[in-house]
Amino acid sequence: MRKKMRSVVALILAAACFFTACSGGLTKVTGTVIEENFDGSTKYWRENGDCKVTVSNGEAVISDRKTSNAGIEFPCDAFRGNTINVTVFAKSANPTVRISLRYEIYGNISYVTIAETSVLETSYLPIIGDITIPANASDPVVYIEATDVMDISVKSVKIEVTGDYNDLTSTPVDALQDPSGYESLKDLYSDYFMVGSAIPATVIDNPNPEFLQLVDVEFNSVTPENELKPENVLDAETTLADPATYNECPALDFTAAKPILDYCQENGLKMRGHTLIWYSQTPSWLFFENYDVNGTLASRDLMLTRMENYIDSVMNWCEENYPGVIYAWDVVNEAAGDNGGMRDCYWKMTVGDDYVEKAFEFARLHAPDGVQLFYNDYNSYSPNKQQVIIDMLTPIAEAGNIDGMGMQSHISSGLQPDSYIEAMNRYADELGVVIHITELDVSAPPSANPYYDQGVYMKSLFEALIDAVDNGTPLECVTFWGLTDDMSWKSSELPLLFYGNLAPKPAFEGVVCAIKGGDVTKPEDYVEVADDFTPISEDYEDQEFIGGPRYSSTQAIVGNAYDGDYCLENSGGSAEYDGYSIDVSRFIGQSIHFSFAVKSNADMVCFTADIDGSWPHLCEVDTSGGDWVFYEGDYQVPSGMTNLSVYFESSDTSSFYLDDLTIEVN
Ligand code: XIL
Repeated sequence: MRKKMRSVVALILAAACFFTACSGGLTKVTGTVIEENFDGSTKYWRENGDCKVTVSNGEAVISDRKTSNAGIEFPCDAFRGNTINVTVFAKSANPTVRISLRYEIYGNISYVTIAETSVLETSYLPIIGDITIPANASDPVVYIEATDVMDISVKSVKIEVTGDYNDLTSTPVDALQDPSGYESLKDLYSDYFMVGSAIPATVIDNPNPEFLQLVDVEFNSVTPENELKPENVLDAETTLADPATYNECPALDFTAAKPILDYCQENGLKMRGHTLIWYSQTPSWLFFENYDVNGTLASRDLMLTRMENYIDSVMNWCEENYPGVIYAWDVVNEAAGDNGGMRDCYWKMTVGDDYVEKAFEFARLHAPDGVQLFYNDYNSYSPNKQQVIIDMLTPIAEAGNIDGMGMQSHISSGLQPDSYIEAMNRYADELGVVIHITELDVSAPPSANPYYDQGVYMKSLFEALIDAVDNGTPLECVTFWGLTDDMSWKSSELPLLFYGNLAPKPAFEGVVCAIKGGDVTKPEDYVEVADDFTPISEDYEDQEFIGGPRYSSTQAIVGNAYDGDYCLENSGGSAEYDGYSIDVSRFIGQSIHFSFAVKSNADMVCFTADIDGSWPHLCEVDTSGGDWVFYEGDYQVPSGMTNLSVYFESSDTSSFYLDDLTIEVN
């Protein structure tokens, strides 16, 4: 109640202080809304980049745009730490107009897309999106841009705070922390594996020395987040200006990567080269005859030549200019499809299914001595993808052309460490390779204590990694995908070890505790979660049940039971997963024992957990005999979520019958 009162007061205050005052031609925002109709009564905008802005008749026409980001921008300092809704009415001959947010945070510039829409020249269309501006952002601006340089007309712009207004206009940003006294992960884990971080170029030229001090204290391996990807290494301007000369060997330009390479060389840091052959962040023109995207796709032979030259020249340019710095290359990234088979992409279309094999063949042929060759992919712990990857890499391993498997590991705390380690062991055993975790980030769970729960999960994850190495898993490097939550490519999921101001998170403490012992500190504002482990038990004799339908199924109490007079019937599902679902949130993080009797015309009935996008089977019961089957088993319910249900489903849409169900903690 008190909280509600406070927010009402805040709203009244915010409304009261909403006024506009002209300064230097720009209308200053001090309240909760910017409303610009280009009618002369306000001017919240200013020009951004090289362009001309003409305002008349209630519209702003942005012409002579020299770059795709040129347009108008709206300073939004008053909205720091708030979620805003942005609505722009625009038209353009350009297919895509975009509204974006730019801000500086501890010396790093961030650019985030708020919304984009295909607009038509003939009529004004809305582009609408929400975004949260970090509390520690400086100089946030919302700007309007387009994917090329055609004119854009804008009729109105409304930027409005959603929810309670948080006025941080006179609150200083949190000071950057000095990391020099932090526990050092690279030292703590030196008997186990290298500890790395992906860092973007902005960290190298950041005016605040603390960022690189943190790298120095914590890590002994570095991955450039984007700078060695084909889109940054291929020199489009030179190649496209003279396609005949560069036909077999596109021109390269290492300007983006040099600062990071210099830094690693000067500081004795080892680098993972990321990445040579990838479907993404690789320009389409590479795959066309004469590099002309309007022409025809290049032949297999030409693409193999381009591939070999690219792999050879990139690896050897790095080795010649920075000898010994790069110790491993992700030769191919993300070639496996998400639904089985190989991903469709230009490499597959032009070269064919053996493009991965070819890439490793060329890499082995040209790799400098001692450089390890990796395949790298995400979800590589999921059973389906594991099989695809193993099938794809087996001939490459047999030819001796691969040294390592890179498990990207953009994960949530729903991933059970055991199955993760099993996947590593399988790659190691079946392919004879070493393992790197190449891109670890763990989204904070949507729980009452997200940072703390994430820390507890990190501890269990790293304990499992330590155990795995003790038991022979050849895990040689663990790289986090970024330094701070603010700089993460998934910043809204708070997935890394440090807050934006470099203060260590409970996640960092979890990684430290895993090797040093001790527990993650409970925060002062820890929210107690109920620990009611009352067992679930239903025999349907009272004709009651606590669960309910999953999607379109129906439950009924019927006779012909396994035990007693009654059992539960699940029928009418239109898909196999339309089953009988039970909320088991109270068992989150617990080890449970379950038992039940089941009967069905389907061949199999599964007992399945519904976890944030994955559906692990707790058990699969063979019901093909058509009789009642009694089953019991155990399950470790993952932690790090607030709600969890489990459900029974049959392997086709046949009805099934359930009796004597119990679920209890062990
Ligand atoms: C991401 C970077 O972090 C972003 O900055 C960029 O905009 C897109 O790529 N798999 C990979 C990485 O192999 O290269 C990707 O990095 C994340 C997913």
